[in-house]
Amino acid sequence: MTKRVVSGQRPTGRLHLGHYFGTLQNWVRLQDQYQCLFFVADWHALTTKFDDVGGISEDTREMVIDWLAVGLDPKKCFIYKQSDIPEVAELFVYLTMITPVSWLERNPTYKEMLREITSKDIQTAGFLSYPVLQTADIILPKGNLVPVGEDQLPHLELGREIVRRFNFLYGDYFDEPEALLSPVKRLLGIDGRKMSKSYGNSIFLSDDPDTIRAKVNQMITDPARQKKTDPGSTEACMVVYPTHHVYSSNAELQEIETKCHEAAWGCMACKRELADKIIDSLAGFRERRAEIEKEPGIVNEVLREGLHQVRPICRSTIHDVRSKLNIFSETTVV
Ligand code: TRP
Repeated sequence: MTKRVVSGQRPTGRLHLGHYFGTLQNWVRLQDQYQCLFFVADWHALTTKFDDVGGISEDTREMVIDWLAVGLDPKKCFIYKQSDIPEVAELFVYLTMITPVSWLERNPTYKEMLREITSKDIQTAGFLSYPVLQTADIILPKGNLVPVGEDQLPHLELGREIVRRFNFLYGDYFDEPEALLSPVKRLLGIDGRKMSKSYGNSIFLSDDPDTIRAKVNQMITDPARQKKTDPGSTEACMVVYPTHHVYSSNAELQEIETKCHEAAWGCMACKRELADKIIDSLAGFRERRAEIEKEPGIVNEVLREGLHQVRPICRSTIHDVRSKLNIFSETTVV
């Protein structure tokens, strides 16, 4: 039996290059190798946006259009929305019953988020239970492999512990899902911090060429290099050279280094070349996105089709789980 891949992304609206190199490039590759289920984690978005729900459906739409335009193909993978599957919420309820609060409280990602998000009070039961919901997402459709970034590993480990506990209490049923870590290219935002929508330092996949040029021009280079005639240092270059790394071959990098170190070109020329590469790499994306936008019903169609494929798997799991928990009876409507 081939393994099943499950992964989700919170709806954050239009996606940026960090999302592409961190997640999507990988998903597009996986859809040719495994049965893949990719979903919009809109309930997870609520854990931090419960007080700002106005944009969730538009953010979902924009994100799914970006998914399709980067090459996720609904003929190869299932694309759906978490909140369309009530069985996710039902399984979440059962899993919360067997998950010790102490496991959730010691989760390093949780502790870090509590430290970082100071603008609002996220000490809610929902936010604490984020990894429990994530576990339900994965095991409900019987996912085995979960492509995630390193920051998500604690969540996944917790998920495995929850599965072990479930199997211990009710009899072996779920497989322990495994992380699928693949080499990701780390992308910096134009200010040198991690690229993140909330930092306002992102280059979006859907940015037009002029916007991309303007953003690349703002990128920090070698702070010690004042004039074009000063020799530069690619090691000290803060954003432009590291970004060239993502887009260039070794030979090209070598040439960039030489030209910088020998002051054979200035930072502006180097930035121009980088902007050209980014713009070229997104040409196909831009065309596909424009085509997709012409079909107003497409996002709903894709989500409906994905739901149609995935829901029966989820129903069957919930049916088994109810039997195991002894709460299945003739009055139960499934
Ligand atoms: N927590 C993930 C993130 O922030 C999103 C997510 C929700 C997810 N449920 C999932 C990822 C299940 C993988 C599997 O990126």
